[in-house]
Amino acid sequence: MSTPIVIDCDPGHDDAIAILLALASPEVELRGITTVAGNQTLEKTTRNALKVLELAGRTDIPVAAGADAPLKRTLCVAANVHGESGLDGPDLPEPTAKPVAGHAADVLAEWLEPGVVLVPTGPLTNVALLFERHPDVKERLERIVWMGGAIAEGNVTPAAEFNAFVDPEAAALVFSSGIPVTMIGLDITHQALFTRAHADRLRGTGRAGKAVAELSDFFQRFHESRYGFDGSPIHDALAVAEVIDPTLVTRLECNVEIETASEYCDGRTVVDRWLVTDGPKNARVGIAVDARRFLELLVERISSLP
Ligand code: RIB
Ligand code: CA
Repeated sequence: MSTPIVIDCDPGHDDAIAILLALASPEVELRGITTVAGNQTLEKTTRNALKVLELAGRTDIPVAAGADAPLKRTLCVAANVHGESGLDGPDLPEPTAKPVAGHAADVLAEWLEPGVVLVPTGPLTNVALLFERHPDVKERLERIVWMGGAIAEGNVTPAAEFNAFVDPEAAALVFSSGIPVTMIGLDITHQALFTRAHADRLRGTGRAGKAVAELSDFFQRFHESRYGFDGSPIHDALAVAEVIDPTLVTRLECNVEIETASEYCDGRTVVDRWLVTDGPKNARVGIAVDARRFLELLVERISSLP
């Protein structure tokens, strides 16, 4: 019995790999993709989602474009990480499909039937708009698995992780929505580095494997220069992997609040890791990951794609 999911994303190298992992895994059924501005502009993230589906031969999967800017703030893209296209590195096929009509926040309300898990892997702007425009969706949305946030250090500022930093107001609205959020943050994604050895195992497989290897080659530049890592955290793929096999991640139920009015800490996910507050336990925060099993799952599934 596979779990139906919808991915809301800002492709982005790791978003692209997350989509391919979902397509390669029988434990999940990718019902649709919505796109949001984040790593790059909405036009580019939407085009990139379509290119990934073209690469995988899955243009049957619908794509709906969403917000082109955060709720209140000015968009800051991550060209330093993902390049001008948002998917620099591999030569991906031109998309033949077009996005479906309608804003992602409205299309999500149609797609989110009981049992569907929403997997946002970018800023939470579309999800916040979904809750604002269609509050009734909360009656049928049981779980959100979000790649974002951090218990400890951020990756955009010392305090904030990118997806939370781009739209803190949206994140605050989602974490106070009453829908439990499984938070896959930097603390665990940085524990599972996809290395050149993993990429080399994919290079000679199908066109998807070759593309993932080349995406990883480009993604590695940033992580080597910033952190001195000998690999890259494929952040968004871990969110999908948590739905595929929840035993890969150890979670703690606790309170998470989002800072939205601070000189130094805007976008910080304030995680009550040691349960010292009386705040509602609105999140299940990833505190450990079985990195070896996650990376083996990723390589094995991507290598199975054409
Ligand atoms: O901080 C990492 C997250 O921000 C990932 O989802 C990456 O794709 C970017 O969206
Ligand atoms: Ca992302």
